[in-house]
Amino acid sequence: MFFWRVKPLDKILETAEKKSLVRQLGAFQLTMLGIGAIIGTGIFVLTAEAGQKAGPAMMVAFVIAAVVCALAALAYSELASMVPVSGSAYTYTYGVMGEALAWTVGWALVLEYAVAAGAVSVGWSGYMNGLLTSFGMELPAALKTGPMDGGSFNLLAFLIALVVTFLLVIGTSKSAKVNAVLVLIKVVALTVFIVIAVPAAKDVNFEPFFPSGWGSPLGGIGVLGAAASIFFAYVGFDAVSTAAEETKNPNRNIPIGLIGSLVVCTIFYMLVGYGAVGANGAQPMFGADGVALHPGTPEMAAACAGSDALVCSKEPLAHVLKVMGFAGIGNFIGLAAALALPSVILMMIYGQTRIFFTMSRDGLLPEALSKVHPKFHTPHVVTIITGIFVAFFSALFPVGILADISNSGTLFAFIAVTVSVMILRKTDPNRHRPFRTPMIWLVGPLAIAGCLLLFLNLSAYTIGLFFGWAIIGSIVYALYGYRHSDLGRGLKAHGGPKIDSEPPFHEGPQA
Ligand code: ALA
Repeated sequence: MFFWRVKPLDKILETAEKKSLVRQLGAFQLTMLGIGAIIGTGIFVLTAEAGQKAGPAMMVAFVIAAVVCALAALAYSELASMVPVSGSAYTYTYGVMGEALAWTVGWALVLEYAVAAGAVSVGWSGYMNGLLTSFGMELPAALKTGPMDGGSFNLLAFLIALVVTFLLVIGTSKSAKVNAVLVLIKVVALTVFIVIAVPAAKDVNFEPFFPSGWGSPLGGIGVLGAAASIFFAYVGFDAVSTAAEETKNPNRNIPIGLIGSLVVCTIFYMLVGYGAVGANGAQPMFGADGVALHPGTPEMAAACAGSDALVCSKEPLAHVLKVMGFAGIGNFIGLAAALALPSVILMMIYGQTRIFFTMSRDGLLPEALSKVHPKFHTPHVVTIITGIFVAFFSALFPVGILADISNSGTLFAFIAVTVSVMILRKTDPNRHRPFRTPMIWLVGPLAIAGCLLLFLNLSAYTIGLFFGWAIIGSIVYALYGYRHSDLGRGLKAHGGPKIDSEPPFHEGPQA
């Protein structure tokens, strides 16, 4: 049978740590939570990348990515509210489609979270380097970016990943108040940018609007290629679904929180995109063959040497303001990004360690990984291993490549979750669903089609890496997971050690 070793949902719920949380979050708090998780490197940094791929039409790319996310978000919330346990897409797939697919999803989520943490670290370093340069403390060029981007070792990205890992090991991750302050900082920074850049927009900067057309599958360029990359800017909204247990009237508030945060972010992103293009222009750098160069390649780094173009900037929003003559405000935007982006790195590393933790608790990865620190009650072993990997990715790879790789894993997980929702509607129609995806037989297939469209518009390089990673995963599964699985060995799930299992930034009082 195709779906084998399915872990019954009731057993999953039993295994999950029993906790009963006060239902206290309303639509507004959920929306804030979503915005806190969503706004990050995507808008602050990948705007340049999207411009390189699509030119001014990157604004269309922002909308396409938002629609795909909104569709997937609706499906996501149904499972999140039914099975509110750690491990998200991996756990849902285990409960619906069985172990082999769950493994594949868990393995893909490593790409989503760990590589995304790397991308945000690189994004952070771009702004931090910009700030240091403004204050006359510029690092040597070799230490500002990785080897594919014209440097050797991205020192600041490496260091921020290690600092965030340290914070996670000692358990500093939960403060709803901190989240509120960080959301405010990000929103103020984007608003200031919009207020200055939008009125300065000039029609001429929008011409030509579609310099690279729609793009072609596996090409990674054009509007669809930009949408596949800028999808990263919306990732993180699943933080809202994971708060299902703490939500008042989840059937109403979860979709409002999810869609609300996506709508707010989309409006901000559109206005920021309009301001950046209009005030500065966003035409791509072309190669000798007349085709836009791929961002994050040595050719692009060479074409950008000494260029003032938006698509070349590592701190595009600050750059636009500096070029307009507002250097001080540009630095303020840089400072806001430097303060707020580490929380996104933290959420991503946190998410990755909890997936690994859940997989090792199920026997699919060595138990040593789920060792819990006696004092801090955090899964320190897996956190430290993850942090070291993240630090090296971010030191060596460009932001756009890391974001694209992360997107491939996320899109795959979204497809798996949406398929699971549809299967479960058939196989377990009477189970209580605190939130039901509206029009699932329309929304589900559209979400899957949208995710596939974006996936296929990533570059061939990214898709190749995704499949390479999947093959490595299958080998690890065959050699380890398959034999050690608790479910496969007929062991009763042991529940595992206790960890601090609250996702960052939304603690609620225990009932
Ligand atoms: N959406 C998050 C960001 O853009 C991952 O940084």
